[in-house]
Amino acid sequence: MKPLRHFLTLADVDVDELKTILKIAETVKARFKEGNRTEDSEILKSKVLGLIFEKMSLRTRVSFEAGMTHLGGGSMLLEERHIGLGVRESIPDVSRVLSSMVDCIAFRAKRHSTVVEFAKYSSAPVINALTDEAHPCQALADMLTIKEEFGSFEDVKIAWVGDSNNVAASLVEASAMLGCKIAISSPKGYEFSQEEIDKLTAQRQPGFALAQIEDPREAVRGARVVYTDVWVSMGQEKEEQERVAAFKPYQVNAELMGLARTDAIFLHCLPARRGLEVTDEVIDSPQSRVVEEAANRMHAQKGLLIWLLGN
Ligand code: CP
Ligand code: NVA
Repeated sequence: MKPLRHFLTLADVDVDELKTILKIAETVKARFKEGNRTEDSEILKSKVLGLIFEKMSLRTRVSFEAGMTHLGGGSMLLEERHIGLGVRESIPDVSRVLSSMVDCIAFRAKRHSTVVEFAKYSSAPVINALTDEAHPCQALADMLTIKEEFGSFEDVKIAWVGDSNNVAASLVEASAMLGCKIAISSPKGYEFSQEEIDKLTAQRQPGFALAQIEDPREAVRGARVVYTDVWVSMGQEKEEQERVAAFKPYQVNAELMGLARTDAIFLHCLPARRGLEVTDEVIDSPQSRVVEEAANRMHAQKGLLIWLLGN
């Protein structure tokens, strides 16, 4: 029996474990790209992944389901409205029962505390498939994409432009663990607190540096990765008007991209709201790696699933 591990944030793994997950991801990706579907097709044979979604998803659901199929396992979507989590049945009861039948649960929750509580009662590994606080699976794919582009994390500076949100939090955590520099540029009132930064950078490695820079033009200077996300995350729809006004100067457009290094790439976790946080000319430009990044969700999560469940 493997020891029970959860993956709710990157703090659930150490630096070596994170590197191992990425290494497995690279290996399975290389075989997949060669068209070799047989070698990995029994790694998770007869294992079942349950997927609970309290919010919408394209990439996360499809990458987990396709990934499990490629590895010989199965998956099932459990829409929150069908389970009635905390309404029809308590979180501990759902967690105990579900984890007695499936081998792993990926959970996208409105509140991070729900996933934490769920994991407490689960006898199977629980993966955070996005909460209001973190998106660690996205960070795995992001770091895989950066490694593929630049060969290593050394001398890579990421500029995060926009909201200091769930995706940014996991990116900061991954950057600290892999020794990547990161500048975060958010408008006043939307930055990380010092307490949050301290928590996210607890496993910082040599080479890591972080700066919070209000001016996006200054933040992107010297950056090899310019990364943004929506200004209004799922669950924040009521704040749309004030957020769009506050974030307007933080749009990633050709002018801002032009201030980064000439070899800079553009990343976005997607879905994007074109014309708001990013313009078509940037997201559709040769510098954009958003499709590769999205595709890497599947390879990165295969690495995670094999690390959690494989022999
Ligand atoms: N990036 C991401 O998590 O996409 P989905 O919301 O479509 O899963
Ligand atoms: N920050 C976004 C990411 C979506 C993948 C959200 O939480 O809605």
